[in-house]
Amino acid sequence: MDQRRRVFLESCTAGAAGLSLAAGLPAWAANAKPKAYAPALLVDERGDALRASDLRVQANYVFHYPFEATPVFLLDLGKPVPPHSLSTQDHSGYSWPGGVGNKRSVVAFSAICAHQLVYPTRDVSFISFRKTRAQRGVQDALIHCCAEHSQYDPAKGAEVLSGPARQPLCAVLLSHDPRVDSLTAYATLGGELFDEFFRKYQAKLSLEVGAKARDAVSGQTVVRELEKFCRNSIQC
Ligand code: FES
Repeated sequence: MDQRRRVFLESCTAGAAGLSLAAGLPAWAANAKPKAYAPALLVDERGDALRASDLRVQANYVFHYPFEATPVFLLDLGKPVPPHSLSTQDHSGYSWPGGVGNKRSVVAFSAICAHQLVYPTRDVSFISFRKTRAQRGVQDALIHCCAEHSQYDPAKGAEVLSGPARQPLCAVLLSHDPRVDSLTAYATLGGELFDEFFRKYQAKLSLEVGAKARDAVSGQTVVRELEKFCRNSIQC
């Protein structure tokens, strides 16, 4: 077995074990309810394990997890990101663990807007991270949805700072293996909207992604820069 494959399997085992140890959860997870999915190693377009330190700071990256058709933003915010307490629309509290990677600066959130489920497709994206504030932005470095201007702070677990969204973007939990600087997605945390997403876009997704739209991602998932994934990223 090659080194990367062995390391990947070990880190998956560690991630799954972390979820099942109720009494041994880390302090940040005291009231969290992470939902485990099959682990997926983040890889580049050649299929090689992505190195967290190769991510461009404050650039938009997209991968799909936990389903083939559900997009996720991957961001290196360029500074350590501490844990943050949040709550969902139904007032369930949870503690987001903050950034991972050597600088604890890498975060991931579902790219499905918590307001009306706008998401990036290959043709167009109305939602993205903005290094400098959007026209109607309240500050720099937010995830901004141009549909009705919901704004989420990725440095605070994608908390809503402005607009009609009523809960943070759902977080995607990543484990980082410092030996090879790889990242593995293994769970979500917060308000999932996947059932609503598949109900709303059933016909569209079957055209865009085909019959595998709701298949679980497992093994690995490809990370692409948003500009390469999507032909038209709307700025507003
Ligand atoms: S769908 Fe994003 S703000 Fe309405």
